[in-house]
Amino acid sequence: MTAKPTLRPRRPFFSSGPCAKRPGWTPSALDDALVGRSHRCAPAKARIQEVSDRSRAILGIPADWRLGLVPASDTGAVEMILWSVLGARGVDLLAWESFGSGWVTDVAKQLRLDDHRVLEADYGELPDLGRVDFARDVVFTWNGTTSGVRVPDGDWIASDREGLTVCDATSAVFAMELAWDKLDVVTWSWQKVLGGEAAHGMLALSPRAVERLESYTPPWPLPKIFRLTKGGRLLESVFEGSTINTPSMLCVEDALDALRWAESVGGLAGLVRRSEANLEAVDRWVASSEWADFLARVPETRSCTSMCLRVTDPWAQGRDAADVAVAVKQGVKRLETEGVAFDIGSYRDAPPGLRLWGGATVESSDLDALLPWLDWAWAEAKGGS
Ligand SMILES: Cc1ncc(COP(=O)(O)O)c(C=O)c1O
Repeated sequence: MTAKPTLRPRRPFFSSGPCAKRPGWTPSALDDALVGRSHRCAPAKARIQEVSDRSRAILGIPADWRLGLVPASDTGAVEMILWSVLGARGVDLLAWESFGSGWVTDVAKQLRLDDHRVLEADYGELPDLGRVDFARDVVFTWNGTTSGVRVPDGDWIASDREGLTVCDATSAVFAMELAWDKLDVVTWSWQKVLGGEAAHGMLALSPRAVERLESYTPPWPLPKIFRLTKGGRLLESVFEGSTINTPSMLCVEDALDALRWAESVGGLAGLVRRSEANLEAVDRWVASSEWADFLARVPETRSCTSMCLRVTDPWAQGRDAADVAVAVKQGVKRLETEGVAFDIGSYRDAPPGLRLWGGATVESSDLDALLPWLDWAWAEAKGGS
């Protein structure tokens, strides 16, 4: 029997999106939101611009990049750029989990670009990065949120590339160092490491990406919500606080609150440290676990944000994967009922297991408190199966 732990996480929020709000957050953080005002009035535009300015400073985004707020969360930011720049040359698509596969579907089935190559890997692995051809455009996720596998760095990306590198960094940015000099388009949403709200996306463009936008017109129609140029020129206003359509000023205020908090914990270095400490906590537990291991096989690729675990228990070896999945679900439900962890089941397309969010807003003391509960819940679930 595994004894039921007594210590509980203070905040049982380990969801991979929307993720835990910053420590100490209450709705009063939004008291000064510019609600009831036009988002095009000067103070509102200034607040939207402040989100970009603070993000740029924290992340160290090069001064010659554009950074703007766009509709439809990270998905909106990625899709508007895929629709706007692809087709000018061939494209290599990297996919090793659900979100990367989603971008493959966009390119292969929706845009129907013939000249695309898919470099794939199973859950837990990375594709062979040495096979990427940087004469082509390249689309990839920095951190595969549903497998917990990240690229270890940007060393594999050519400095003298001819194509553009489009990086979905939504579950990496603010918790991992990105190689900005190797990237041309970077996207994210506030709802991940910042613990902000969803539905708003951030789009960062290098000068080379802007050059593509201004020199290439795709052959397909672009809805208004995707349009970043007019008459062959970049819509600079989108990157100066004038959004394409109406944002929520409540969400903008919340993003500002999150960014101020990020500054208060030491900016990017502090955020990375907090997230890496969370990975270390789980790593210590995994090292002595008799039933769980990281889904990510190679240690250098293990995510410090979406930490995905698979079941290695000898009990599971001879059993049907579906039975193991049922046991995992029971364990997850128990933890929810106990109020010690919410939303930690693996993503619907991923192998059965757990996914613990360890982004910067999660306290490692809460993860430390949670880990013994995982042993308890698994023992209970196994016993009941
Ligand atoms: C890697 C990745 N891409 C895209 C998305 C979609 O993000 P959103 O729902 O903010 O559009 C997610 C969400 O978890 C993600 O993890």
